[in-house]
Amino acid sequence: MAYERLPLSDNLSVNEEGRLFFAGADTRTLAEKYGTPLYLMDEDRIRANIRLYKDAFRDLWPGEAEVLYASKACSFLEICRIAESEGISLDAVSPGELLTAKKAGFDLGRAYFQGNNKTDEDIACAVEWGVGTFVTDNPEELSALEKEAARRGIRQKILLRLTPGVDCHTYEAVNTGKVDSKFGVAIETGQAASFVREALASAHLELLGFHCHVGSQVFDEDVFERTARIMLGFIASVREKTGYTARVLDLGGGYGVRYVDRDPAIDVRKKIGDVSETIRETCRELSLPLPRLLMEPGRSIVADAGLTLYRTGSVKRIPGYKNYLSVDGGMGDNPRFALYGARYTVYPAEKMREERDMVCDLVGRFCESGDEIQRDIRMPRSMERGDLVAVATTGAYNYSMASLYNRVPRPPVVMIRNGEDRLVVRRETPEDLLALDL
Ligand code: LLP
Repeated sequence: MAYERLPLSDNLSVNEEGRLFFAGADTRTLAEKYGTPLYLMDEDRIRANIRLYKDAFRDLWPGEAEVLYASKACSFLEICRIAESEGISLDAVSPGELLTAKKAGFDLGRAYFQGNNKTDEDIACAVEWGVGTFVTDNPEELSALEKEAARRGIRQKILLRLTPGVDCHTYEAVNTGKVDSKFGVAIETGQAASFVREALASAHLELLGFHCHVGSQVFDEDVFERTARIMLGFIASVREKTGYTARVLDLGGGYGVRYVDRDPAIDVRKKIGDVSETIRETCRELSLPLPRLLMEPGRSIVADAGLTLYRTGSVKRIPGYKNYLSVDGGMGDNPRFALYGARYTVYPAEKMREERDMVCDLVGRFCESGDEIQRDIRMPRSMERGDLVAVATTGAYNYSMASLYNRVPRPPVVMIRNGEDRLVVRRETPEDLLALDL
């Protein structure tokens, strides 16, 4: 029987024998049943996170709203089925993500096709599949889409991606709202205004409104409010110049999640309440109608619904220098430390009640020194080959960023609901990798 919840997240607990439980399931049993490395996902948590957004919009936003799951955070059939069954919409950035949603039975009329460099093939494929709305990033894409829509004799709904010129103080790789970003068209330079004029002149495109996304893993106090004011100011100036009033405002994704105990907790409901109030006030000041409000959370839907299990291989001690604990996965299934220096909480999954008296780096099996999962963690000195290691909060941007480096097949995904586990993505095999080779 699991008890004693861990402070990081209430789907993590420890039983009397010192074993880690996740989503009510014993990590040792799951590791034995499915092998390691293993991605675990907590379906109840995914649904609860989605409902947090839906309920907040329903209760705190007086107009229409739509929650889009940003599927780049984690995309496979079962996740899309869950999103579909919760009735939310989807943000997809490639035909691959769109196909996953389509095969899951997701109504692509509720899909938003994003991305800063959609190819002609991407555009044709998304139009063919009936994607509801394109989030158009640049003038070249706008004319390519106009051509495709004209060819098919349809009127395609679009949003324009704008760059509001907001620095949200997250790591550079995901800081996307600044004027010099590769994404979108900047308001500050005046280019956004001409972008809008071009869109309005397109006979086969129906401009619904504007999109922006300032960054990911954002903790800044008022960044969404600042962004909303800039976007609404732009909407008002467009109305003044052209008579066109945007009906949709999409504020993107980005709320940060806790990876380690010292990370602050974001109260999504309160945040949405604050943004809602700012938008209402600003609309009143500018005499704008309330837009249909969209948000695109990815990380905050799935991150804390994920846990990765590994088995220890070697424990290398270099006297006077340092210790390494190697596991059977690494940067292939979780490249986030290598890419961003991302923090994670690591647990000795079967030795949770032992003293953590060894400082070590948690490293993987891949052939480069950069293959680290976390540096300077504390683990029990007794850790030895075969012992389980768990890394928490791996539900976002782990599976979706996994690579085939060293031709190491990718781990399976097991979904847990009400303490019951089921395989939702099988383990890749070396034969799967060879299937593409001619
Ligand atoms: N909307 C757009 C247009 C985005 O570009 C993103 C994330 C989201 C929504 C979802 O943001 P979220 O709620 O997940 O923060 N690989 C990086 C994260 C890249 C984020 C890319 N865009 C990482 O592992 O931290």
